Amino acid sequence: MPAPRPLALVTGASSGIGRALAGLLARDGYDLIVVARRRDRLEALAAELASAAGAAVEVAAADLTEAVDVALVTARVAAETRLSLLVNNAGFSGYGPFAELDPDVMRRAIAIHVTTPATLIRAALPAMIARGAGAIVNVSSLLSLSGPLRIGMAGRATYAGAKSFQLVFIQALAAELEGTGVRAMVCLPGMVESEFHGSRPLAGRPGMPPLMSSEDCARAIVAGLALGEVVCVPGLDDAAAVFDQLRDLQQATLAGGNRSGRLAARYAGGRESGESPR
Ligand SMILES: NC(=O)c1ccc[n+]([C@@H]2O[C@H](COP(=O)([O-])OP(=O)(O)OC[C@H]3O[C@@H](n4cnc5c(N)ncnc54)[C@H](OP(=O)(O)O)[C@@H]3O)[C@@H](O)[C@H]2O)c1
Repeated sequence: MPAPRPLALVTGASSGIGRALAGLLARDGYDLIVVARRRDRLEALAAELASAAGAAVEVAAADLTEAVDVALVTARVAAETRLSLLVNNAGFSGYGPFAELDPDVMRRAIAIHVTTPATLIRAALPAMIARGAGAIVNVSSLLSLSGPLRIGMAGRATYAGAKSFQLVFIQALAAELEGTGVRAMVCLPGMVESEFHGSRPLAGRPGMPPLMSSEDCARAIVAGLALGEVVCVPGLDDAAAVFDQLRDLQQATLAGGNRSGRLAARYAGGRESGESPR
């Protein structure tokens, strides 16, 4: 009897990075559960991967910003003891000046990048830990590191904040999972050509730098997992060194802020002079 094929669930598999990743995983021997809203696209992908790679592909059409749909996908994940890989990739930008942002766009952006990935991971982990094997991937963004930067991209507060949750969540979770046999990795793509930027390709637009393809980004995710990375940056040669430096700065900041238990001098001065913000 041949060993059963491992099973991966990929959200946002109807286009871009998720679609490319589903293809790579199928060719690597995975069966798949593919999730997104556009059922027609998912069914076409399932047929393609069944014929090209012999993969059994289950289609789960779901809006991952809506609680009812998220509950169905979560129940499917929780009931699946064979799941080897969960990839939280679905997403959209939801850009716009925050004070003018449609509150429902804000809610959906936080749901798809924060609440839903955490919910699916929570559902997947117990069976993975019991088996002593498995992996979780969040597809975040380099913008998770962009908080203080003036990079000419106004209106990214919700997106960058949500993507930074995905980064910090996985870094902390990866440490928590050490010794369980289950791995967690976060991917930080830069600009990737996909439908994320609209239906018109970005390449060739004035001032546009060269863009990575969705296929290359997916290839980095597969390779990063094989390398045992916690943070996978598809476009960065020395990501490990950069993230070691960042970790050391974070460590020093936490240690400094906790060192003495006393108020920093600049705040103690304000108290003495009786000044307060109005
Ligand atoms: N492209 C970039 O430059 C870039 C850079 C950094 C990070 N990223 C991240 O990479 C991930 C994949 O994006 P992409 O570039 O491949 O963009 P994409 O081609 O637009 O793909 C986004 C995927 O998410 C799905 N999705 C969107 N809203 C959904 C919802 N409410 N419920 C379920 N599925 C939903 C879409 O499927 P349906 O529309 O069929 O639902 C689609 O499959 C995202 O998390 C994005 O934030 C992209």
